[in-house]
Amino acid sequence: MPKILITRRPPESAIERLADAFGHDALEIFPEDRPIPRDELLARVAGAHAILSMLTESMDDEVFSAAGTQLRVVANMAVGYNNIDVEAATAHNIVVSNTPDVLTETTADLTWALILATCRRLTESEHFLRSGQWSSWSPTFMLGVDVYGKTLGIYGLGRIGKAVARRAAAFNMKVLYHSRTPLSDAEEKSLGLRYVDFPTLLAESDIVSPHCPLTDETHHIFNAEAFQAMKPAAVFVNTTRGPVVDEAALAKALHEKEIFAAGLDVFENEPTVHPDLLSTENIVLLPHIGSSTLETRAAMANLAADNIIAVLNGKTPPTSVNLVSA
Ligand code: DGY
Repeated sequence: MPKILITRRPPESAIERLADAFGHDALEIFPEDRPIPRDELLARVAGAHAILSMLTESMDDEVFSAAGTQLRVVANMAVGYNNIDVEAATAHNIVVSNTPDVLTETTADLTWALILATCRRLTESEHFLRSGQWSSWSPTFMLGVDVYGKTLGIYGLGRIGKAVARRAAAFNMKVLYHSRTPLSDAEEKSLGLRYVDFPTLLAESDIVSPHCPLTDETHHIFNAEAFQAMKPAAVFVNTTRGPVVDEAALAKALHEKEIFAAGLDVFENEPTVHPDLLSTENIVLLPHIGSSTLETRAAMANLAADNIIAVLNGKTPPTSVNLVSA
């Protein structure tokens, strides 16, 4: 019987899927609803054939060595896998998988919720009302910025970036993008997008939204210089990974009104939020809920389970990110 370490309890459907394939006794689930502490992870991983991991823990050489040579697969319950040292996993002959596609539309929806909430100051307005401060309608109260007809700038045009761009058509927006690999002319035309270089994206967009993975190249790509290059009425939102933004620089840009507002679902050091962002009014802050719906979290967990089932049965996993020899 294989041992499958599940680092935090996922939706039940995935547990049932794994139990159907390998039996309940094969599953070792960290019982607490918090990120597994490092020492617990290193102790519990010994002898595991598979790990169903979360984005909150580092999966690296130390973990793979602590597991032992029987470890075959690390299935991350996230599309992003910057928490996993893929090179080290490959060196240990361990398959790494993620959960693409199943969260694309949900994350694009949340990105749009954040765009609208930020442009129209929704959380600030609700807080104002709930705290009893609302006294009357006023012609100059809670003025936001329009979304309809504006220019959206997308940095990194993968699946989620494209899904965000598609929704912009309903708002009659012009969509610019910057990506490592530009689309073909035909694709640009069918999606209604225009490729521009990074400085042009910053200078011409009214709303800027990164959808790139976190890599050495994208770390702090949105820094003081980038915020200074944006329009004073620009809105910046981020639903990808926190460290693509230099939070101290963003806080300064917001305090000094270099840009109009920001909306963040992800942070540099989750769950810690930079204190200067917490003391800023023109910002909407969400606790990393981009993919958090009943349907999508179940689909993500099921896909992670399917990757484990495939690898442990000697089959090709549906969504691996590395190549290891059989
Ligand atoms: C992901 O899958 O990478 C998301 O950030 C999870 O919400």
